Amino acid sequence: MCGIIGYTGSRNAAEILINGLEKLEYRGYDSAGIAVFDGDKLNVCKEKGRLENLKILLKKHPVNGNSGIGHTRWATHGAPSKINSHPHTSMNGKISVVHNGIIENYREIKVFLEENGYKFISDTDTEVVPNLIDFYYEGDFLCAVKKAVKQLNGSYALGIICSENKDELIAVRKDSPLIIGIGENENFIASDIPAILSETKKVYFLNDNEFAVLTSSKITVTDFDNNIIEKEIHEVSFSETDAQKGGYEHFMLKEIHEQPKAVNDTLRGRLNSDLNLLLDFINKEFLTTVNKIYIIACGTAYHAGLVGKTVIEKLAKIPVFAELASEFRYNNPLVDKNTLVIAVSQSGETADTLAGVRLAKTMGAKILSISNVVGSTLTRESDYVFYTYAGPEISVASTKAYTTQLTALYLFAVYLAETKNTVLSSELDIVKKDLLSMPKTIENVLKLEEKIKLISNKIFNEKDMYYLGRGLDYAVAMEGSLKLKEISYIHSEAYAGGELKHGPIALIEDNTVVIAISTNKNLSSKMESNIKEVATRGAYTIAFVNEDTNCIHSLCDEIVVLPAKCTLLTPISTVVPLQLLAYYVAKNKGYDIDKPRNLAKSVTVE
Ligand code: G6P
Repeated sequence: MCGIIGYTGSRNAAEILINGLEKLEYRGYDSAGIAVFDGDKLNVCKEKGRLENLKILLKKHPVNGNSGIGHTRWATHGAPSKINSHPHTSMNGKISVVHNGIIENYREIKVFLEENGYKFISDTDTEVVPNLIDFYYEGDFLCAVKKAVKQLNGSYALGIICSENKDELIAVRKDSPLIIGIGENENFIASDIPAILSETKKVYFLNDNEFAVLTSSKITVTDFDNNIIEKEIHEVSFSETDAQKGGYEHFMLKEIHEQPKAVNDTLRGRLNSDLNLLLDFINKEFLTTVNKIYIIACGTAYHAGLVGKTVIEKLAKIPVFAELASEFRYNNPLVDKNTLVIAVSQSGETADTLAGVRLAKTMGAKILSISNVVGSTLTRESDYVFYTYAGPEISVASTKAYTTQLTALYLFAVYLAETKNTVLSSELDIVKKDLLSMPKTIENVLKLEEKIKLISNKIFNEKDMYYLGRGLDYAVAMEGSLKLKEISYIHSEAYAGGELKHGPIALIEDNTVVIAISTNKNLSSKMESNIKEVATRGAYTIAFVNEDTNCIHSLCDEIVVLPAKCTLLTPISTVVPLQLLAYYVAKNKGYDIDKPRNLAKSVTVE
């Protein structure tokens, strides 16, 4: 959620820092700031609110200098304010720090420092860090940083500068992502790749408790004991334009339209046109011993997990429990060495998902992660990794990450079924064929955009909307409802059709919008009854059906027929019009679609 950028070189640091922070805006933030050395002077400029405010400040008071750090903050300790925003500087102005994460023992460090004469001005946990480094500083910058970091509990990615070592920028991390960008006579740090993509594609991924000292010409990485660590250079494969809007009004719309390609990229090299699976990322011997699977994830990724549960159980005949990662730890999960835990996370940095994974590992489970971010913390802590290759997802509301997570889960389910020989290969061939044709199916579904736009024009002023579905359609209904509430701020709930009579029906009155998802011909008569039940109570009904769903046209106020057939893979194509519906409802309301209020792209604190 917070964003970090740092620069050391010979160009105007403030410009590079602001440019980098703009690329991180999608992470969600409430204030921003930079600290740059201008000659002997450390210039710290911060503002509450959008980066635009900081830019106005910098226009009035330009900052020169060739090295510095920048940050976009999403408040955890202390309200969003100028004083609480980063960078934070030691009382004597010597050390300045940007920080992502939480210092759990900051209170006791604060007391310790106050006893030693330090005074604090913010409510943040971060402010103890520059002061603690200053406390240990005796002329050796790195040594002081290491002594201070040793005392920190919690999670942190830190960018640190010191007025007595102006050409040096120090970076260290624990449980919070941080990368080093390698340039020509200039170097960078960033909390994630888009921040520096316009400057360099060569990066190092920093591991926990690795300390990087950057000057314009050199990067040295050491551990606590001063052993030099040789890092491997990674070439980032996506371009800067991949991370831009590409002509669409919003990243969300661009990403919705990227889904045929994204799903294709997930399939590429894993399933060929002869229907052979080319997966070798997981130990087959281990797979045959697996007797239980947990899928843990948060938000949209959890909804992907709900579909994954049904599909894996159906094809591989293994019990699967899909759990919210934030609950998993507290529910006494029955995990042992025969358990496979599948952690689904677009970012690979979600704190609750990581915590669940760490617990499962201590209980003997093997971890398979499904993630979109190469080198993310989750992938580095997993036994097996399945990348979705969806490309950078900038919109806070997740779309292509979801459909590619589904694709990955289907591929895995087929692979597991094949390995365990649980269903006829002819049955698996059908799923494989449907997977291969999915990019085309999504392309066809996207042609419904104009129709969805017209529907959204009619309903965008509603206060509440309800989604209904059965079986896999219920899981998709949950994702459709989440999309709507995330970006349009309309109250919305998803219910299983069978639950309607057990409470939700009491909410239906004249013109209540009910969105019924009925793509499964075997369940459509039951959905028909549900639609009738709400329609007779005055609901405004909108149905999403497949072309082979039994016809319920006459019952509904609006009907959207998807150019798709009922298959096990239906969720991938069904969610697309629901994403479009949420998008156009929010657009009608004039909201900030890519950066919805109170939400963050990646929730790296619990
Ligand atoms: C946040 C995002 C969601 C995302 C969830 C899990 O809430 O706003 O879009 O689904 O985190 O994120 P992950 O990166 O673990 O998939």
